[in-house]
Amino acid sequence: MGIVDRAIANSVPVIPRPIVKRISGRYIAGDTLDEAVKTVRDLNREGCVATIDLLGESTESKADAARKLKDYKKVVDTIDEHDLKSGISIKLTGLGLTLNEELCRANAEEIVEYADARGRFVRVDMEDSPYTDATLGIVHDLYRRHGNTGAVLQAYMRRSLDDVQNVIDAGFSVRLCKGIYDEPRSIAYKDFATVRQNYIFLLDELLKGGVYVGIATHDEFLIWHALRLIHQLEVPADRYEFQMLLGVDEELRSILVDAGHKLRVYVPYGEDWYEYSTRRLKENPKIAGYVAKDVIGS
Ligand code: FDA
Repeated sequence: MGIVDRAIANSVPVIPRPIVKRISGRYIAGDTLDEAVKTVRDLNREGCVATIDLLGESTESKADAARKLKDYKKVVDTIDEHDLKSGISIKLTGLGLTLNEELCRANAEEIVEYADARGRFVRVDMEDSPYTDATLGIVHDLYRRHGNTGAVLQAYMRRSLDDVQNVIDAGFSVRLCKGIYDEPRSIAYKDFATVRQNYIFLLDELLKGGVYVGIATHDEFLIWHALRLIHQLEVPADRYEFQMLLGVDEELRSILVDAGHKLRVYVPYGEDWYEYSTRRLKENPKIAGYVAKDVIGS
């Protein structure tokens, strides 16, 4: 069990796998890459772009990391072969960050180089706080050498304002999200309103600093502030995009696309669906109702 899985196990009531499987369908493209291709095609037809995420987190061995690297390359090949409007999202713990930073760096460089040769972008997801420094350091180096990669900053992290300054200096693109892991108060803001305020503050700084921002949220209050900032700062359309998770608030997604904004959907697929789905279900305030309905209905 990896650190992320442990955090989830500690913070989420255990929901039986069959129930999670039944109600997680909307958050996952499917078990296979073919199903992810079909989902991305549909999204492209709707006017959205995508980023494909192969589910599964920590690796336990060098061989696991090598397998993950091979799988990531297959995703890039498939995106290319089907000419999809999509990049790929990767997790550095999947490429060996829990084992050895140098091994992970070499693996990350290989996938970024591979994607670069095929004109594709690699977004490096941000995981929990033990990996923040290493993740930003690796993205920084790879961006300098290849250009086709960017990082994620989390608005709940107390350190993120400093990271924003470094990103502005470095020039790589950022996905800005609230943050999903269960962090201690010494590291992360715990209060919902404070996280929101910090999101707005960081977004303002990033946009003023000329950073290309992926505005990753389904929170309409934040989306309103993003639209306000884009308007007030006269941010050109090619300097930002909105980003949403597959299966979450499709109505808001259409509203943004119809208004002419670029919108990227995060498309997870793979057999390791349980942990990802459990996190999504934890975020959804309606989960209690879904579970009750499923338990009663089965
Ligand atoms: P919030 O959780 O307040 O949700 C706002 C509204 O959206 C809710 O009121 C509800 O209506 C709807 N909603 C939210 N979640 C829902 C759900 N599961 N089902 C149905 N409706 C739902 N985190 C991280 O730590 N590292 C990362 O790399 C990423 N990457 C990432 C990529 C993309 C594209 C997105 C959109 C998000 C991430 N995240 C992430 C997750 C992020 O940090 C955050 O946990 C979620 O986006 C939820 O926060 P919101 O800002 O959407 O607001």
